[in-house]
Amino acid sequence: MGLTPAAGATGREGRPVADLMEAVTSLAKRRGIAFQSSEIYGGLRSSWDYGPLGVELKNNVKRAWWRSVVQLREDIVGIDAAVIMSPKVWEASGHLEVFADPLVECLNCHQRFRADHLAGAKAPQSGHEEDETMADEANAVYLRPETAQGTFVDFAAVQQVSRKKVPFGIAQIGKSFRNEITPGNFIFRMREFEQMELEFFVKPGTDERWHEYWIAERLRWYVDLGVRWENLRLRQHEPDELSHYAKRTVDVEYRFPFTEWGELEGIANRTDYDLKAHAERSGVDLTYFDQDGDARYFPFVIEPAAGVDRALLAFLIDAYREEEAPTAKGDSEKRVVLALHKDLAPIKAAVLPLSRTERLVPEARRVFDLVKTGWMCDYDDAGGGLRLVGGSTGHRARARLHAPGPDLYRQAHRLRE
Ligand code: GAP
Repeated sequence: MGLTPAAGATGREGRPVADLMEAVTSLAKRRGIAFQSSEIYGGLRSSWDYGPLGVELKNNVKRAWWRSVVQLREDIVGIDAAVIMSPKVWEASGHLEVFADPLVECLNCHQRFRADHLAGAKAPQSGHEEDETMADEANAVYLRPETAQGTFVDFAAVQQVSRKKVPFGIAQIGKSFRNEITPGNFIFRMREFEQMELEFFVKPGTDERWHEYWIAERLRWYVDLGVRWENLRLRQHEPDELSHYAKRTVDVEYRFPFTEWGELEGIANRTDYDLKAHAERSGVDLTYFDQDGDARYFPFVIEPAAGVDRALLAFLIDAYREEEAPTAKGDSEKRVVLALHKDLAPIKAAVLPLSRTERLVPEARRVFDLVKTGWMCDYDDAGGGLRLVGGSTGHRARARLHAPGPDLYRQAHRLRE
C-alpha cells in the first residue's frame, strides 16, 4: 500500500549490494562489534556475541529508545519482567496453540527439525528416523518469544503503582527467544535476540488514531538517529499475515542489502485481545476504571515492537562509508568510516598522546580523566599525536596538539560541555 515515505529512492551510493553486507560483517568482526558465539568450538550457527565496541553501541541503541519512549514522556513508564513465566501465560496468550512447534532431533546426525515437517520422514543428512522430542511437557517452562506478555500480566499492578490514566504506556527492553527455522544474515534473524517493546493502552474507539500516531513517531526515531529516508519504508500487513491478536499491523522496513526490504519493527493494533485473554484465564479483573467517563473497559493496545539487534544492524549498514584519506607520507589510502549518530557512537572522544614522555603522559591522562566522566572515552598512547577526537553528527571534530598546553584543556572542557 502507499505508505512508502521515499518510494522510488535509489540504493546506497552505487555500492554492490552483496559487498556491503560482507564489508559490514567483516568490519564488525575485525573491530569487536559482533562475532560468532562459541567460535573456538567452531561456532554456533545464528548465535552472536557483542564485543567491546558492540556492547557500547547496543547499549546506546537501547538508551536512545528508552530516552525517546520513557524518559522524555510523562505518559509512559518502564518495567523489566522475568523471561521465564508461568506456562499459563502462554496458554492464555494463544502462543502455545499458534506457535508451539515441537522439535525433534536425529540421534545420529543431531540435526533438528520441526516434528510436523518430518513426521514419518527421515533426517535428510543421515537418513535416520526422528528419535526424540526435545521437551518434557510435564515440566516445561518456556523462554518468552516476546516481552509483551510480561507487560500484560503486570498491567493492573503497574497502572496502580504509577497512577497513570489511560492513555498511557508500559515499556520494556529484554531478551526474547524463537525457534527460527531459517536464522541467518548475521544478527538479522537469531534464536536469541533482544526486543524494545511498548504496550500503549488506549480507550477503545481512539485506537486507530493512536496507531497512526505511533507509526509516525517510530519512523521518526530511525530518521532522527541518522537512517536515510530512502532506506526506510512502511508496509501494512496483508490480512493473511496478521498475528492472531492483531487488527492491523504496519512494519517499519529497512532496505537491507540481502533482502531488499526487511522488517525493523512491527507496530500492531492488538485490540483488547491480550488483557481479555489473561482476565478470562486468571480470573483477575484487568479492566480499567475510567473516572472521567465513569465506565469500566478493557483498554485497546497499540504496540510498537522493535528489535535491538536489527536496529543496530540497520544503523551500522547505513553509517558504513569508504573514503580516500591522505597518509602521513602524502599518498592516499582507503579508510572505513562509520558515520554513526553521536548518540549511538560507542566512543565519544579519544585521547591519543604522541609519545610516552614524562611530560606528555600525565597531561594526557589529566585530559582523559576530565572527559571520561562525561562519556565513554578511549585513551591510547600507542602513538599518533596528542589528539582529542570527538564524534558529532555525521562528522568528527579533530584537533592535533603536539605539546600539552592551555589550548588542550580549553578544548577538553569545551568537548565536555
Ligand atoms: N510483541 C510483538 C512482536 O514480538 P514481532 O514482529 O514478532 O512482534 C518484533 O517482533 C521485532 O523483534 C521485529 O520487528 C524484529 O525487529 C525483532 N525480531 C523478531 N524476531 C527476531 C529474530 N529472530 N531475530 C532478531 N530480531 C527479531
